[in-house]
Amino acid sequence: MTYMLNKLDDFYVERSKELNSLCNHLLDIEKGNPLRTTVALLGPGGYGKTIHAHSFCHIKKVRNIYCDGILCVELGLNPNIEEQLKKLYHLLTGDDRKFLNEGEAEQYLSDKFEELKKTYLLVIDDVWKYEHLEPFLRISRNCSRLITTRLLDVATQSKSTIVNVEEMGLEEASKILWASLDEKPVNLKPFERLAERLSRMPLLLRLAGAILRKESLNCPLDKALNDLNKEFDRIGIKIFNKNTEEHLNSEVAKCIDVSIKYLMVEEKQDIRPFIQLGVIPNGAEIPISIVSALWQKDIHFTEKLCKKLRDFSLIKYQPGDQTESFVFIQKIIHDYLTKRLGFEEEDTMKLNDRIADALFSQQNEDEYKMKYLLEHLIEAHRWDNIREIFGNISFLRTGKLRKNSCNSNET
Ligand SMILES: Nc1ncnc2c1ncn2[C@@H]1O[C@H](COP(=O)(O)OP(=O)(O)O)[C@@H](O)[C@H]1O
Ligand SMILES: [Mg+2]
Repeated sequence: MTYMLNKLDDFYVERSKELNSLCNHLLDIEKGNPLRTTVALLGPGGYGKTIHAHSFCHIKKVRNIYCDGILCVELGLNPNIEEQLKKLYHLLTGDDRKFLNEGEAEQYLSDKFEELKKTYLLVIDDVWKYEHLEPFLRISRNCSRLITTRLLDVATQSKSTIVNVEEMGLEEASKILWASLDEKPVNLKPFERLAERLSRMPLLLRLAGAILRKESLNCPLDKALNDLNKEFDRIGIKIFNKNTEEHLNSEVAKCIDVSIKYLMVEEKQDIRPFIQLGVIPNGAEIPISIVSALWQKDIHFTEKLCKKLRDFSLIKYQPGDQTESFVFIQKIIHDYLTKRLGFEEEDTMKLNDRIADALFSQQNEDEYKMKYLLEHLIEAHRWDNIREIFGNISFLRTGKLRKNSCNSNET
C-alpha cells in the first residue's frame, strides 16, 4: 500500500455534495471496485480543490477500495516533471533511481505500472497546462486519476469528468467561520451573513475565522463579530465574482489587509517579516532555517512568528518533530506578498542575498537548495557565484528561473 497524503487540518469542514460527487465518479460502491477514469476538480484558486482532493482520499471507504494505493504529485505553475516522476518511482519501488531525462523516467514508470498490474488512485494536484499532465496520464493508463486545476481547458483536454469546486454551501461556509471556536455558537445567523459577505470562499472564511478565534479569547463573541464586520465595512469588502480574477484578487487582498491590521494593532506584531516572505519562490516549501536567515532572527523567534502567522491562516506551517519544519505560502497569498514587496520598496536584492548566504553555508544539498539556489543568486545579482556553479550541472537542471530573471541581460 502506498500513500502520500497531506494530513487534514483540525478545522477542515467536510463538503458533502462535492465528496458524494467524487465517490460516484471514482468508486463502484456496489462491487467495491475502483472506477478507472479521470476526474477533475475544477475551480478558482483558494476555493479548496487541494484540501478537497486530500479529504476524499482520507475517507475509509476510498482507502479500502483503492487498497493497492493512493499516490499524490503536485505540479504547480512551473513543475519539474522529471523530479515528480522520480518521486513517484520511489514511492512505487522504494528505489531512488536517477534518470537520464524525463523521457527515461516516464518509460521506467510506465513499465513499472504495467508490471505491477494494480489499480492505484493517482492524485495530480494543481495542473496549469495539459502538457504537464500528459506524461502522468500516459504512465497511469490502468489507474484512476483525480486532478485539480483552475483551467477548464486542462479538464476538457484530459477528457476528465468535471466536479466543480466553487463557493461553499451556506451552512458549510459559516461552519468554517466558527469551526475553530471552542464552542459551537448558539446563534448561527451572524456567521451566515458574514459567510455570504465573504462570497463563501474558503480561503477568506479561514482568514476571518482565525481572527474571530483570536478575538473571542479576549472579548465576547458578539463584540468580536461586530468589530470584524466594522473592519470589513471600513475596507469595503464586497461580494465578488469568482470568475473575474482581478476582482477576486482585490477582495482577497483586502481580507489579508484586515488580518494584518489585527496582527499589527491587536497583537503588536511587526509584519515586515511576513511581507519579506514574498522573496521566497512561489510554491516552495521553505525550511525554517532559511526563514530564520531571511529574517535575521534566531530559530526560537522564527518558530514563534511562524506559529502566529499560521494561527492567522496566513501561512501553512507544521513544526516537525524530528525533521526540519517547513513553511508554505499559498499562491494567492504569495501574489499579495510579491505585490506588497514592490510597493514598499523593500531591498529584495539584500533579502535574496541573505538566503543565498544561508544556502551556501549549508553542509548538505537539500531539495530547497537544489531547486532554488540559482534563482536566489540571480535575484541577488551574484554573478560570480553563478559563474562558479555553472560547472555544477545538477543545480542547473533543477534550478528554476523567474520570468524577470530570464529577461535579465546578465543572465
Ligand atoms: N472545506 C474546508 N474546510 C476548511 N478549510 C478549507 C476548506 N476548503 C478550503 N479550505 C482552506 O482554504 C484555503 C484554500 O484551500 P485550497 O485547497 O488550497 O484551495 P485551492 O487548491 O482551490 O487553491 C486553505 O487554507 C484551506 O485550508
Ligand atoms: Mg491547490
